[in-house]
Amino acid sequence: MTSPARKILVTSALPYANGSIHLGHLVEYIQTDIWVRFQKLRGHECTYVCADDAHGTAIMLKAEQNGLTSEQQIANVKAEHEKDFADFNIVFDNFHSTHSNENRELSELIYGRLQENGHIASRTITQAFDPEKNLFLADRYIKGTCPKCKAVDQYGDNCEVCAATYSPTDLINPKSVISGATPIEKDSEHFFFKLPEFTEFLQTWTRSGTLQDEVANKLAEWLDSGLKEWDISRDAPYFGFEIPGAPNKFFYVWLDAPIGYMASHKNLCDNNGTDWMEYWKADSTTELYHFIGKDIINFHALFWPAMLSSAQFRTPTKVCVHGFLTVNGTKMSKSRGTFINARAYLDQLDPDYLRYYYAAKLSSSVDDLDLNLDDFIQRVNSDLVGKVVNIASRTAKFVQKSGGELSTEIADPALWQKFVDGGDVIAAHYENRDFGKAMREIMALADAANEYIAAQEPWKMAKVEGSEQEVLKVCSLGINMFRALLTYLKPVLPTLAEKAEVFLGETLSWGENLSFRSGSINKFKPLLTRIEKEKVDAIVEASKEALAAAAPAEGVTDTAKEQSPLQEEPIADEISFDDFAKVDLRVALIAKAEHVEGANKLLRLTLDLGGETRNVLSGIKSAYQPEDLEGKLTVMVANLAPRKMKFGVSEGMVLAAGPGKKDIYLLEPHSGAKPGQRVM
Ligand code: 2FM
Ligand code: ZN
Repeated sequence: MTSPARKILVTSALPYANGSIHLGHLVEYIQTDIWVRFQKLRGHECTYVCADDAHGTAIMLKAEQNGLTSEQQIANVKAEHEKDFADFNIVFDNFHSTHSNENRELSELIYGRLQENGHIASRTITQAFDPEKNLFLADRYIKGTCPKCKAVDQYGDNCEVCAATYSPTDLINPKSVISGATPIEKDSEHFFFKLPEFTEFLQTWTRSGTLQDEVANKLAEWLDSGLKEWDISRDAPYFGFEIPGAPNKFFYVWLDAPIGYMASHKNLCDNNGTDWMEYWKADSTTELYHFIGKDIINFHALFWPAMLSSAQFRTPTKVCVHGFLTVNGTKMSKSRGTFINARAYLDQLDPDYLRYYYAAKLSSSVDDLDLNLDDFIQRVNSDLVGKVVNIASRTAKFVQKSGGELSTEIADPALWQKFVDGGDVIAAHYENRDFGKAMREIMALADAANEYIAAQEPWKMAKVEGSEQEVLKVCSLGINMFRALLTYLKPVLPTLAEKAEVFLGETLSWGENLSFRSGSINKFKPLLTRIEKEKVDAIVEASKEALAAAAPAEGVTDTAKEQSPLQEEPIADEISFDDFAKVDLRVALIAKAEHVEGANKLLRLTLDLGGETRNVLSGIKSAYQPEDLEGKLTVMVANLAPRKMKFGVSEGMVLAAGPGKKDIYLLEPHSGAKPGQRVM
């Protein structure tokens, strides 16, 4: 039996209005949608709200790049996001925008309360400024040469080559990423939220069951090392809300983003004529759950509860943090076609497949989740098609043959009881967001059902005269087991559940323990087809093409998530500086170059490393005649383990650059480079 109905408000992080939804985002929306559907199915009053995160410099610049006003930009993206979500069966009770009247009103209200309570400080700070664009530049909008390792093209806050952190003023030859101008320094007054004053409150709040242990432990480190005041204002031009009483100063996007949760909910309540305050008053007895990724914990588990408490609103019941998505074991990559947009997936496959795979992989921890494309095909086909749907397809026809009415008698009461009893464990796993465990329980039941049917062999029984009732009993149990499985899977597989409901002629509900059902069912039609590998290949191909067609990524933003691994676009997997430091790069003189018999692409090079010689097989025949190479210098990887290749052993690797064919370039001979010299 379920407990009395709870009133639960649930949110997922608000997606930025400057890009498409991709499979990385969908981990969270699918996770939240499953949880919400589960709560609703159990009879609770659960409301799921979201919105587009519409403010900030990145969106303003994106609009400019697209030749649109910011308002047009966010309207277009909102329409796209809503369609993608709907087609993935992610059903919000409301999807709003942070650029809304409700959000302006609430942001002003909350800011006003923070001010009244003495939680806002103001002071003048010096920042980089783009004199051409007349725009203050966040660190990520400045690039230059790293002051430490001299690597070019590094962002204003850290070097991706040597991992040094610094301030943009330390960069050598800094340039604005937006205009290319050299930034100047400029003073401006900023407003700060006095976060350190909430240290004690947060020490308690973060340990009060609101967070996973691993998250609370991480926050304890931050709390122990001392919190800093949080800069919540930005200067014009900025797409956002102007701060009351501070002309040309705007709320930083991250101040009004979480308030967007409240605003979306207020918009819903105002439209429905329900009491919004019931959920947000300080002593509310309702529950509030935020689902977020691990990159935005500080905003949700420090700034947000502190703001809410200062402004006399309730704080979240739980902040549920998940990890990032990897595809085939590494970060999503555009060059490999694994940076897959929601639409590229939907063009080929049913959303339920991905929903099931994510569910099977999700847990309550912050661990990353891997979408292995081969495993995805295999698991979905074997679990959903091979196990679950198979139960109905093997038994339905015998029920039809005997008139389409299920038997009232339970052929194997102990087996049926297993399905009934399984419900509590499965429900507990759903509640704790341990969806992977729930899916394993469900599949264990599916295995038991299939074993039973295989042992009974109704197709053989049916051939025996007078066995009709017995066959009907066995198959009625089969159909009831299928019903139970689909009820338990309904939060994950809404499309499949809907089709099953048409077949069963009922709406599957899970308010209390399941009961065995008799009565009529409809004709069975195939419910789910197997995933064909070609479809997955087509998604990957389309995702590669999308990159080729797209304009070069701007790659900069003033917001946090875009610094996350999900947003980067590595050509190869990222390596640490320590890994890079292991590579021994040296200048080598090409002492001798020869054709390799039978090889179309390779030349054999004898390289002089300043005394030591190496034989290297190098694929540069398309660009060079052997005689042109002799006497040239190149850079080689000198500590690569010898590799046995088809045409002999290669003792290292020559580095060259260029698109290939005739255009492969070696090191230009230049005065300073000497064979054997280390390359930095
Ligand atoms: O990281 C992001 O994608 C943000 N747009 C999430 C905002 S969540 C909330 F606080 F609004
Ligand atoms: Zn560096």
